[in-house]
Amino acid sequence: MPVTLKVMRKTLRLLAITLAICACDRVKAPVYERVASGVWKVEVGTPDKVNLLNVLQTSPKFAAINALEEVPLPVDKDKITMEVFDGKTYLRFPLDRGERLYGLGLNFKSVAQRGSIKRLHVDHYGGSDNGRTHAPVPFFVSSKGYGVLINSARYIDVYAGTSVRKDSENPPEIKNRNADKDWSARPYSDNLEFLVPAKGAELVFFSGKTMLDVVKRFNLYNGGGPLPPKWGLGFWQRVPALFSEEDVYNEVGGFRERNFPLSVIGLEPGWMTCSYPCSYQWDTGRFPDPDGFVGRLADEGIKVNLWMNPGVAPGCDVAREVRPYTGTHTEWNGLLPDYSLPEVREIMGRCFRNNAIDKGVSGFKMDENDGYDSWFAPDVARYPSGISGEQMRQLYGSLMQRFMTELYREKNLRTYGLVRAGNAGTTSFPFVIYNDYYNHRDFITALVNCSFIGVLWTPEVRASKTSEEWLRRMQTVCFSPLAMLNAWADGTKPWSFPDVEERVKEVMTLRMRLIPYLYTAFARYALEGEPPVRAMALEPGFEGEAPNDQFMVGESLLVAPLFAGETERKVILPAGRWYDFYTGELAGTGEVITVAPGLDRIPVFVRDGGIIPMFDPMTNVPAGPCPVTACVYGKRAAACDLYDDDGLTYDYEKGAFTWIRLTADPASASGQAIVPEGGTVWSFSGYEFKFMTK
Ligand code: GAL
Repeated sequence: MPVTLKVMRKTLRLLAITLAICACDRVKAPVYERVASGVWKVEVGTPDKVNLLNVLQTSPKFAAINALEEVPLPVDKDKITMEVFDGKTYLRFPLDRGERLYGLGLNFKSVAQRGSIKRLHVDHYGGSDNGRTHAPVPFFVSSKGYGVLINSARYIDVYAGTSVRKDSENPPEIKNRNADKDWSARPYSDNLEFLVPAKGAELVFFSGKTMLDVVKRFNLYNGGGPLPPKWGLGFWQRVPALFSEEDVYNEVGGFRERNFPLSVIGLEPGWMTCSYPCSYQWDTGRFPDPDGFVGRLADEGIKVNLWMNPGVAPGCDVAREVRPYTGTHTEWNGLLPDYSLPEVREIMGRCFRNNAIDKGVSGFKMDENDGYDSWFAPDVARYPSGISGEQMRQLYGSLMQRFMTELYREKNLRTYGLVRAGNAGTTSFPFVIYNDYYNHRDFITALVNCSFIGVLWTPEVRASKTSEEWLRRMQTVCFSPLAMLNAWADGTKPWSFPDVEERVKEVMTLRMRLIPYLYTAFARYALEGEPPVRAMALEPGFEGEAPNDQFMVGESLLVAPLFAGETERKVILPAGRWYDFYTGELAGTGEVITVAPGLDRIPVFVRDGGIIPMFDPMTNVPAGPCPVTACVYGKRAAACDLYDDDGLTYDYEKGAFTWIRLTADPASASGQAIVPEGGTVWSFSGYEFKFMTK
């Protein structure tokens, strides 16, 4: 072959290869549509009809988003690439040196996510942060001050700073493994990449002056946090699966005799005639008079919460009617209603109203809508709405949350409950995630992580090997969104370990005393998007790598739990002065301290100028007004706002709430509670000020 022909063939071949690499379905230059201050939407390719948000019908809180300071996106848009190739969407974001990434689902072992590889997939957490988790929210927050939601109900692959492209602008140094001891199998990466197995996706960008502002915008875009009814913040006890009415009365009697707080009793599968699959009908052998039962507990100020899972028993009352609207596959022989359909919400709504809500049941624990693959319907399942098996897996828990929230909302009643799966878009639904995994330390990492992704998590207590572990677990659950002992399998009581019984009671009582403070923190979540329990990395002014094992609760409390086997620990105090919650003494100023508090106390610190409004010790969440004591920390004049409303209904959404201004001056040991003119006060009968720092 003549040389020129050879060269021509080689050139053509190279051209063909280059074209093949570049051959993406054409994606028009991305259009960043501004939807609110610091929020932009971008549509890539042809997104699926169904996404994480549009099936939930929640509305962004635009006014609150717009009230946050507007800042431009701190990332060069030209360096973000969005392409469709091979029927999938490829997304790439540039990473700076030192930039940190957070979010990407409810992780249990890690908080900072740069360096991780995941496939985001709803599942029961299986022990590694590989993306299979209860809330694999495809949202990342960058320490640069922005975050992106990939609003797709698909199993999304994430390479969070692990991949190196040959055209990298900041390539890792090339090292010779033969000669260089510093050679690394994980060379530096300046890329955050996603692969969405769909021909397109909607992306929502959020900016913020701080990471906390980014998270607030994300939460508000998802409707803002839920405001639980006030009783939801008291103490919950779930009883063994086959408990009868009589057993429950005895259980409640035990709490009363010993003077332990109790707000909610949770019934497990045995309240129904049949579970796994579920009949959703009362077992009248164990509960002969459900109305009387719920009423009697209500008279004692105790709410009832019912367990359920999605599978409808084929023989039960509701099965025939709902059957045409269920998926092709079952869960433990139960029909799986397609909760995206109005027909299902109507039929199942009637069932839950008649059997539970109209009887006064306060809420549900919606179990096992997460996985594993062997129990929840597989991806080959299909649903009558046209939602695929994969999408339904990503959405099932979210759809159940929407359904149940609406049932209570139509009665103008707030509920608070539990759920095993959620995703982006569920922020405003009043459900807290839990699981069976039960590693105490990892439970706290999850508590930290939930604050990046707009979900709530409870490190629920079940059983323990030692009284030390029992107490340590009880201490952390009392500083979480839902303080609960789940005794469904073990029949444990708060007093199960007599040698720590009094200490357990103390921390449970502290939980009750903190309700005014916690309720205010939740109001900020609902109205301003600020998570009530937060990662240290979200703390403005916090410098350095954020620890996984301490967290903020509300505006002013820093909680640093100890785990069984530990007698002391390090606590990283952010900038400013911090005080010991129990004594009011100065604990440190923007430094790392070591504490050895003994078994009886969980280390808690208060920000300088923090005011913690507390009730007197009590065992029930009060229905009427009670005195409140405002504990003031530090020596400078301080102020905070205390939130109040009726504690039960959605009237607060129409403006029926009051912010009470508390001001305190330690120098003159004086304080004032200022109720705005015409403001209603529902919960407080008087205000006292206690100056903790001498
Ligand atoms: C589990 C759940 C437990 C308990 C149990 C009842 O899946 O996590 O908390 O409710 O089911 O069978």
